[in-house]
This record gives sequence, structure tokens and C-alpha cells, in this order.
Amino acid sequence: MTRRTLIAGNWKMNGSVAALGFFDAVAPVAKEADADILICPPATLLAQAASACTGSEMRVGGQDCHAAVSGAHTGDVSAAMLREAGASHVILGHSERRADHGESDALVRAKAEAALQAGLVPVICVGESREEREAGRAIEVVASQLAASLPENPDRMTLVIAYEPVWAIGTGLTASVEDVAAMHEAIRERLPEPLTTCILYGGSVKPGNAKDLLSLDDVDGALVGGASLKSTDFSAIIEAAGRKSELVR
Ligand code: PGA
Repeated sequence: MTRRTLIAGNWKMNGSVAALGFFDAVAPVAKEADADILICPPATLLAQAASACTGSEMRVGGQDCHAAVSGAHTGDVSAAMLREAGASHVILGHSERRADHGESDALVRAKAEAALQAGLVPVICVGESREEREAGRAIEVVASQLAASLPENPDRMTLVIAYEPVWAIGTGLTASVEDVAAMHEAIRERLPEPLTTCILYGGSVKPGNAKDLLSLDDVDGALVGGASLKSTDFSAIIEAAGRKSELVR
């Protein structure tokens, strides 16, 4: 099985019903793209975003889910609820959730298992802080996050990993292509199904740097924050992944 490129947008706590015209604007580019396209809007927009994608090549995902199937968890949503709203994927363990909500690797693993159970593809985020990179511990930190956040049951491993150095998120800074290549190779070596698991890079991906990052062997796509809010920027990133018509047959 070959890995297909995935270009995923993470709208974070941004967007409104008025922003859903984004899907019509991006649809023609998505149709031509040699990549799967995913948008993760806030949970309140998920069902409408899913309808806006009907008939297009785009899919929608959640930004988080609870580890439990249902119950007394005010303010949370379950993986099955995301699925019912039309999601195919769910981002888990994003560094903003790890920082703002104290999410541990063990919790991320529990959420990933809940997501798989509900038929969602978990997009599990890992990444080191600036201090950890400067101390030469980036690979060690990411390896330990991976070891503790991946689901236990490797036979049902349909998942995506997103390597997002924390210091590169929303800062305009990007890891060098050499550092990204080295980290993605290190991640791939540690995956239970290395050949089929998609590894995305995230952290200030923009139209200007997407092509260089996406051309790396072990980079199977991008998780895009800020630049996924503008249809023109996101379309340019999708185009950097190549067009179906450019495929050698
Ligand atoms: P950014 O965010 O592209 O704005 O840096 C990436 C992310 O947080 O997924």
C-alpha cells in the first residue's frame, strides 16, 4: 500500500458560518490535487462544513474528542458524535491542547483508541519545545511522546502522525528541511506500520515553504493552521502537493 499525501487544515477556534464559502473556493483545486484534503473546523461548524463538502474531494475532521463514549462530561464531544456530524478524522494531542488543557500522552492514547473505535482516523500530534530542541533532545522527546500516545492495538492502526515542533506553530518559524527530514525518518523508524502510516509536518506551513517540505521523502503531507483560514493560501499549499494530471502514468 502506498501512502497518499494528506493536506489538512486546522482552523482552531476560528471560523463562522460566513466562512463556509471556503469550501466552494477550494473545491476546484482539491479536485485536481494529487492529495487527500481535510479541514478541521470548530465542532460547531462540523455538520455544516460536512454538507459544504458533499460531492467534493474534501473531508472534514474534529480538533479533539473525549476518550469516553458518552456520559457526564460537560462541554466535551465524543468521537462518535464527530463521526455522526460527518467527520472522517480527528486531531488529537495538539500542542495547544497539551499546553492549555494539560493533556498527557496517556490521555492522547485513550482518545486515539476511542477515535478508532468510532471509525475515525486519529491525527496524533507530537513535537518538541524550543528548549528541548536547543538541548539536543528533540528526537528523544518525540520518540517518548510517540511511544506513550499511540494506540495499543497495532492491528487496527489506521492513523496519521503530525510532527509539529511547538516553537514553529503560529510563529512564522519553520524547522529546516534537514531537521524535518531527520525527525520524520526517526518517527517512521518507530512506527508499528512504518510503510503505510502518513507523517505530516506542521508549524507555519505556507505557500512559500510547502513545496520544499512536501518534497521530502518521509513527509506525507502538512497540517496547516493559520494558512488554512484563507482559501487562496490553502489552495496554493494544495497545489504544492502536485496535480493528478502531473502524475506519470
Ligand atoms: P500554524 O499552525 O500553521 O499556524 O503554525 C499549525 C498547527 O497548529 O497545526
